[in-house]
Amino acid sequence: MVIPRTIKKAAYATLPLAWRKRLAMWLDRQQWIANRHEWSMLVIRDWAEKDVDAYHKFLWSEHLGYAKFYDSANSFGADKILPSRRLLFEDLLACLREQGLDPRRDVKSVFEVGCSQGYLLRFAETQLFPAATDLAGIDIDGTAIEAGIAYLSEQGSKIRLQRADMSDLENVLGEKSYDVILCAGVLLYLKQEAAEEVVRTMLRHTRYVVAIAGIGHPEVDNAGLTVSEPRAWDAGMVHNIDAMVEKAGGKVLQRRWEGAHEINGQRIHFVFSSGKAAVAPLSPASPTATR
Ligand SMILES: C[S@@+](CC[C@H](N)C(=O)[O-])C[C@H]1O[C@@H](n2cnc3c(N)ncnc32)[C@H](O)[C@@H]1O
Repeated sequence: MVIPRTIKKAAYATLPLAWRKRLAMWLDRQQWIANRHEWSMLVIRDWAEKDVDAYHKFLWSEHLGYAKFYDSANSFGADKILPSRRLLFEDLLACLREQGLDPRRDVKSVFEVGCSQGYLLRFAETQLFPAATDLAGIDIDGTAIEAGIAYLSEQGSKIRLQRADMSDLENVLGEKSYDVILCAGVLLYLKQEAAEEVVRTMLRHTRYVVAIAGIGHPEVDNAGLTVSEPRAWDAGMVHNIDAMVEKAGGKVLQRRWEGAHEINGQRIHFVFSSGKAAVAPLSPASPTATR
């Protein structure tokens, strides 16, 4: 007899959460159990309904469940960048050019929120922004950060990675600002108010463009959502990122919503907004730049 997922979830909910967190960690390590990563998420799935941020932070910081999909020994290399992220970068470059900037010459610093091992930062360093000397990222997943630091140091990369929670972004950034801040597939792990705070912080610490990729709503343009909604299968939050930018006093420069169309299994909602940090004057060698 196959027991429906909803009944299993309700049965687990009767056990204390502290036990189930330990059970989730144990299940995730049992290589003999088929779908062990799904089981590790299922035993604590009801937690997402009570505290969605704590649920996601626990899974990512303990490198459980969906975190395993980001385990690949080699996610680095231009040929490994997923089509949805290539599209994000194409839109970002177009947006920078639209601001009168030359991405190869004028982007000197890049920060990524939720960078995993740092493969998008490495792509930015090697392929997109050769003038960038200051590249850094944070992620809550210490396993991914350690793997990324090891790989990047072998490559002689300038990228610096740090384990940190995006909810602490203001403290992490301190007085620093970056030309570009990236945040792709990450805000979905926070509920609306906490995600709004991260957006506000990113805008405050960006000189040129903040590039954000969220989950696209399949039926209505995300810009029409009045409140964030949890996605059924993983409790990822579908946000109205345009509204978050505007609420923080930012300006949406460019956006993309692709409805039900999926690119490598992802529904697309991109928002590119102007940063609010002071813009340093460009050198006279930048004749096209006007701001
Ligand atoms: C779906 S992956 C996306 C990785 C990468 N940005 C990309 O686009 O390929 C989400 C990443 O966000 C990180 N993350 C989730 N919650 C976080 C938090 N509270 N603070 C920092 N990073 C977080 C995860 O550890 C994971 O590496």
